[in-house]
Parts: sequence; C-alpha cells; structure tokens
Amino acid sequence: MPSVGEILDGKQICICAGSGGVGKTTTSAAIAAGMAARGLRVCVLTIDPAKRLADSLGLKELGNEARQVDPALFAEQGVEIKGELWAMMLDAKATFDELVARQAPDEEARDRVLGNRIYQQISSALAGSQEYMAMEKLFELHTEDRFDLLVLDTPPTRNALDFLDAPKRLTQFIEGRSLRVFMKPTGFAAKVAGRGASVALSVFKRIVGFDLIADLAEFFNAFSGMVDGFQARARRVNSLLADRRTCFLVVCGPQGEPVDEAVYFHRKLVEAKLPFGGVIVNKVHYPAERLRGDGADLPAALAERLGDDLGSRVCENFADYQALAERDTRNIDRLAAELRTQAVIRVPYLDEDVHDLAGLAEINRYLFASAEQREARAAGRA
Ligand SMILES: Nc1ncnc2c1ncn2[C@@H]1O[C@H](COP(=O)(O)OP(=O)(O)OP(=O)(O)O)[C@@H](O)[C@H]1O
Ligand SMILES: [Mg+2]
Repeated sequence: MPSVGEILDGKQICICAGSGGVGKTTTSAAIAAGMAARGLRVCVLTIDPAKRLADSLGLKELGNEARQVDPALFAEQGVEIKGELWAMMLDAKATFDELVARQAPDEEARDRVLGNRIYQQISSALAGSQEYMAMEKLFELHTEDRFDLLVLDTPPTRNALDFLDAPKRLTQFIEGRSLRVFMKPTGFAAKVAGRGASVALSVFKRIVGFDLIADLAEFFNAFSGMVDGFQARARRVNSLLADRRTCFLVVCGPQGEPVDEAVYFHRKLVEAKLPFGGVIVNKVHYPAERLRGDGADLPAALAERLGDDLGSRVCENFADYQALAERDTRNIDRLAAELRTQAVIRVPYLDEDVHDLAGLAEINRYLFASAEQREARAAGRA
C-alpha cells in the first residue's frame, strides 16, 4: 500500500479529481504542503477554497498569481517545509484574458477582443465553468518550469468528468459552425452589418443599447486569427494530461454512491489513457477496535460513570458509529477490488472542518503515513 509521497515520486503534476464536496480542495492543499515538506518546490492551484483555508494559506485576496506560504506558519505546527509551498486561487476570467492576450497576433487585435462586449459575456460564461481555465493555468505554469510539482484542485462539477472534456469543448466552440458563419467575411454578420440602416436593426440597437451585430462581427473576426493558436494549445494541454509525469488522484467519500462515482471516474481515466495514481477516500469512519475490546462490559461501565440514561445513549451512539465504520470498510474493500489497485488511501472524518495549517498537517499524517502506520490505524490500533 503506497503513500501519497510514493505515488507522486517523480511526478510533476498531480490532479485531484472527484465529485462535489468530497474534499478535493482540502486534499490538494494538504498534498502540496506534504510534498513541500519533503523538499520540493510545490504550487497548489486551488479553486474556491473556503475563506478560512485561503486565509490560512495567506491567500487573502483573489489573484491569478502564485504566492509563497510563509514556512514559519508551518513551523508553528511542527512541520518543517524543506522546499517551498506556493498557492494560488484560480481566477478563471483573468486566465482567459491572459490567454487571449497571448494568442492575439498584435496589440490591436488583443484590445479589440478584450474590449468587446460579446467577448466579455462569453468569457464570463466560459470562465464560469472554470474547467478549461484550470487546465490552461496548469499548462502555463508547467511551461514556466518554476516548480517541481503542481497540484491542481478541480472545480465542483456535477459530473467529475466534465473537466476532462474542457479543452475539447473550447475548441469545438471555436470551430463550431455558428462561429464559422460569423467569421467569413461574406458571412451572415457581414451581410447583416452591411444592412446597418435597416429599421429592425436600429430599433434593436436602441433596445439593447449597443450595436450587437457590429460587436458580434468584430468579435468573431478578431477571434478568427486565434483559432489555430487555441487548437494547438488545447492539443498540448491534452498531451500534458496524458504524460507519464502527470498523476490523477481520485478523491471520494466512503459511502456507496461516492464509491460508485469513483469507480466510474477511474474507468473513464483508463479509457482516456490518462495516468491514474490512486484513490483517496476521505472522511472515513475508522473502527474503534480498542473500545470494542471492552465488549460486554462497556454498557455497565458507561452507566456507572454517566448514569443510566446518558450511558445508554452514549452506548447507542457508539454502536451507530461502529456500524458506519463497518459500512465504510466494506465500501472501501469493494472499491479496491473493483479498481484492482492497492493505492487506496484513507483519511478519517476529523472532528472539525479542515480550515487551517494544523488541519492540513493532521490530514497529512494519513496521506503520507507508511503502510504499517496506515494498517495499524485502519484496524483501530493507533
Ligand atoms: N477529513 C475531513 N474531516 C473533516 N472535515 C473535512 C475533511 N475533509 C474535508 N473536510 C471539510 O469538508 C468540507 C468540504 O471539503 P472541500 O472544500 O475540500 O471539498 P471539495 O471537494 O473541494 O468541495 P467542492 O466540490 O465544493 O469544491 C470543508 O468544510 C472541509 O473543511
Ligand atoms: Mg473545492
């Protein structure tokens, strides 16, 4: 049973994927901290981290730039960061603007697109889905070669696979027939714009407050010069994802449904020939073996200390917890069997939300534990 440190050995990119709310942002931050502690220069790209987690990483303001997390903050938690930990919050709209600026043939074309009202709408809509921009930023940072390892958090998608299709979706959008029509000089937009004096259009212009058709035509004409650049970039993003130095970690919960989703997601990764590294099962109820050892004496012992009423309620609570723990164990065994992998790492359901560096350090005791340590904990012996 490998630890996250072993799974990521020699990797340059780690992508934490999974369905909503399972702990992707938390584990991404924890993994990045753990690898930085081991001496690497690591950058974690987070998406919508809870405010307190962002604060604790020193990410007070939104920004599309990486900031270094002060190692002294970790030292306070007894964690020595031998390398460097950097973190950034992805700002999808800003990434899109940067991308356009890079692809534009000249400054004039860039300004025409960025200042265009249609672009502003479309970029916000596309940026809203975030997936493409996450890939884009990842690619950009990878090309810059400033870091040994990039850890990418992924956005909360309804479907954990959405982001895999993101580069394809953007190029399809750009290649799409509707755009082609607009981009041809003799196309629809040119024809309509040519009839600028038509009554209908001037009424329309008055209603919407600006010349929509002229804006559309201008947008698509300016964009047309960038299509090839976008496509080439999307192809490079795709090959980066498939590279053997990239590693996908699937994050999931221990309940039946999340496990099913993880199995499905793993299958899709394999089908897409993307490198699967392992599964992190988060928020697991660990069996409390030591208490169970007291067996039949427990109700009496509790009643003596807490009184009959409270004692029996604590007992019931404990029995419920044990049932949950057993269910989790069964689900995780099934997951490992279906995926035919040893790389299944459990992280317990902690008593509190993980919103600071102490919480991340606690998670890392599990993510980076040796096989023996993990087995001992899973059996409730530690
Ligand atoms: N092992 C854990 N024990 C207790 N709380 C946890 C644990 N892991 C994560 N949490 C808490 O669960 C919540 C969701 O975690 P997180 O934000 O990392 O999930 P996510 O998968 O990124 O969610 P989203 O899909 O919305 O982006 C957070 O409040 C976090 O502090
Ligand atoms: Mg998240």
